[in-house]
Amino acid sequence: MRNSFLAVLTLLAVSALAFAQGVQKTGAEKEPVHPGTATPKTAEQAFKNIQSLKGVPAEQLIPAMQYFNASLGVECNFCHVTQPQWAPDKDDKEEKRRARQMIAMTQSINQGHFKGQPEVGCATCHGGLSHPRSVAPLVEEKPKPPQFRSARGQQLPSVEEVVQAYEKAIGGQPAIQKLSTRTVKATLTTSQGQTLQIELVQKAPDKTRSIITLPNGQVREQVFNGAAGWIKTARGVNEAAGPELAALRINSRFDRDLMPASGLAHTRVIGTDMVDGHECYVLRGQDPDSDFSERLYFDKQSGLLLRRASVQRTLFGPLGDSTEYSDYKEVQGVKVAFTTRRSTPETVVTRKLDAIEFNQTVDDSKFARPATQAGSGQ
Ligand code: HEC
Ligand code: HEC
Repeated sequence: MRNSFLAVLTLLAVSALAFAQGVQKTGAEKEPVHPGTATPKTAEQAFKNIQSLKGVPAEQLIPAMQYFNASLGVECNFCHVTQPQWAPDKDDKEEKRRARQMIAMTQSINQGHFKGQPEVGCATCHGGLSHPRSVAPLVEEKPKPPQFRSARGQQLPSVEEVVQAYEKAIGGQPAIQKLSTRTVKATLTTSQGQTLQIELVQKAPDKTRSIITLPNGQVREQVFNGAAGWIKTARGVNEAAGPELAALRINSRFDRDLMPASGLAHTRVIGTDMVDGHECYVLRGQDPDSDFSERLYFDKQSGLLLRRASVQRTLFGPLGDSTEYSDYKEVQGVKVAFTTRRSTPETVVTRKLDAIEFNQTVDDSKFARPATQAGSGQ
């Protein structure tokens, strides 16, 4: 259930909140970047005024922009013209022209000093500020020392042991295997004080449909049918592509929380860390088909999953996203986290389950492309 809830929020972070405020932000939404074509377009083929990012896959552009937002602690309009309308191709703003110089500088630092590896990103200097400071931090401003302890010098369990302990903790494989659909109602509260309602239906292995109702009554619907995905808002229906589709696919896996490591490749137990006072084993893995990787934090004592931290690689550095799980309660033989708290660069969203049921009959027609209503703009 939190699977596609997460997918919703992946997008929510970028566009639904903007959509709630009536601001169009993602210039790429109108035209899917590569609608079913075999060779992905380059940025300059898909967009109007590309000078710095020539040759990069077009679908990498928006994730890079999201990384800029997060690194500088700004929104798209910091660099882009929004009046009289959203025109990201225009070069009128000094900040956009500065950003081009910064792109060149960052690339040259990495070329010249880090063998071309993306070691230095915008966040390395900016750290969430548009004007980075060079004053050395005072004691109370220093970031807390990390509590992560790497595998070195520690006796760690294997991936299988950690995964089995988790499966046992939530009810065991036989109970997990009985589940095939999930129907959820939940309430989301953002750190900006917005309250949203979400309704979610999922069917194994990966079909998902979710409907979010925003405080102003507007509705956002998201569907993944196992291959293609769509987002429907008041502006119309858009087919998901590129990293957006990858996020939708990953978050739509029915067993994402029931068997959290099963969709990941190259899994390893890399060390221990603390989550909310609990010592956890940290398991790392990678999504085989995309730029996403994950760290899963399993409580040493209870075996339960307490945190999932995912990272999306972008052109200039990784974008983080972390969810903490708590308030586990049993539902039809398996334990489910009734509260999750998700942090993204833009917001913190707390989700509380109001209702959850497994194995209701769900017809496949639920996962068809959302119908376009007359007058919805498409
Ligand atoms: C720190 C400045 C900065 C921020 C913040 C930023 N952008 Fe950009 N954006 C740029 C620069 C610079 C370019 C031009 C890149 C080039 O020349 O290759 C660009 C180009 C674009 C383009 C291509 C426009 C075209 O047709 O040529 C789009 C679309 C875009 N940005 C969308 C966004 C969105 C959506 C956001 C917020 C999620 C955003 N940008 C945030 C600096 C920024
Ligand atoms: C090596 C450190 C460093 C890196 C890496 C870096 N910046 Fe900067 N950036 C700075 C400094 C220093 C300033 C100037 C701050 C000031 O003028 O107060 C700045 C200023 C800017 C400004 C102008 C801010 C304003 O308010 O006018 C933008 C936009 C910007 N950077 C974007 C980026 C982007 C996008 C990246 C990644 C592609 C990046 N920077 C990478 C150090 C860096």
